[in-house]
Amino acid sequence: MPLEPYLADRCRFVDQLLERLIPSAETRPATIHQAMRHSIFAGGKRLRPILCLAAAEACGGSKEAAGFNAAAVECLHTYSLIHDDLPCMDDDDLRRGVPTCHKVYGEGIAVLAGDALQALAFELVTRTPVTTRHTTGDMVRELAVTAGSLHLVGGQVADLEGEGKKLPLEDLRYIHESKTAALLTCSVKLGAMSADATTEQLEALQRFGMATGLAFQIIDDILDVTQTSEKLGKSAGKDLAAEKSTFPALMGLDASRAEAHRLTDAAMAAIEPFGAAGARLEQLARHLLSREY
Ligand code: IPE
Ligand code: IPE
Ligand code: MG
Ligand code: MG
Ligand code: MG
Repeated sequence: MPLEPYLADRCRFVDQLLERLIPSAETRPATIHQAMRHSIFAGGKRLRPILCLAAAEACGGSKEAAGFNAAAVECLHTYSLIHDDLPCMDDDDLRRGVPTCHKVYGEGIAVLAGDALQALAFELVTRTPVTTRHTTGDMVRELAVTAGSLHLVGGQVADLEGEGKKLPLEDLRYIHESKTAALLTCSVKLGAMSADATTEQLEALQRFGMATGLAFQIIDDILDVTQTSEKLGKSAGKDLAAEKSTFPALMGLDASRAEAHRLTDAAMAAIEPFGAAGARLEQLARHLLSREY
């Protein structure tokens, strides 16, 4: 299947799952479920769950067996966006083309909607069928370590503390790998685990995910400079305004693009052992590199 219909099909699959797995907007207390749904169903490219499903398929598994893990990483990602947009963090009014969660529901409910989506993510991982090699505990631990202070939260801390400073490249890499690449990596690994992946396959996907994830955040930094808010569905130009260290700020646009290309090549090399089974993952990594929103 060509990439475009594949993305549309997997997006629909993920959306149907999320629709079924997130409590309805009428469920008591209705406000929190409306707020969770506001942010989840505003749009979003669903890249992490799609990578999760593609990694499962690359390991000989099915999208059905990977479905709970795919929905889980999208819930965790959406929680991180809701909190990232809060006035005490990046202070953004626009996300996925609609007003941010706190703009519509207030800060208190937005914090809680993020909390609830994070908790739901862990519940969903526990619903993934176990395999010969991977227990529920293994999969929960993978997500927990990724979400915690050593990775996603740690990266967000360093990102906040780095505002107004010109960080060395090494520190910026740490931030991007932690806040973004770690969850992309976790997404492919959780897909692979649902497909009973071997240690060698998981190690290859670890390298693939970190390289693709760092390239992904470099592109996000580039788009923040080069695109409009309409195109991005979120406020452009915010990194400069908040004096964030970013790849374009540190090395310029051309060198940033070259670095993203180099990382994508490294990602390709990492999954070479998959042979033809890795074709979809390769195609996805190339797609992320050329994205315009
Ligand atoms: C935005 O992620 C936050 C980053 C880590 C760069 P996405 O660009 O995947 O956002 P959605 O999910 O499509 O809204
Ligand atoms: C977001 O990084 C990373 C997480 C949400 C963990 P950014 O702050 O650059 O993401 P955007 O640009 O607001 O989507
Ligand atoms: Mg941020
Ligand atoms: Mg932000
Ligand atoms: Mg950004």
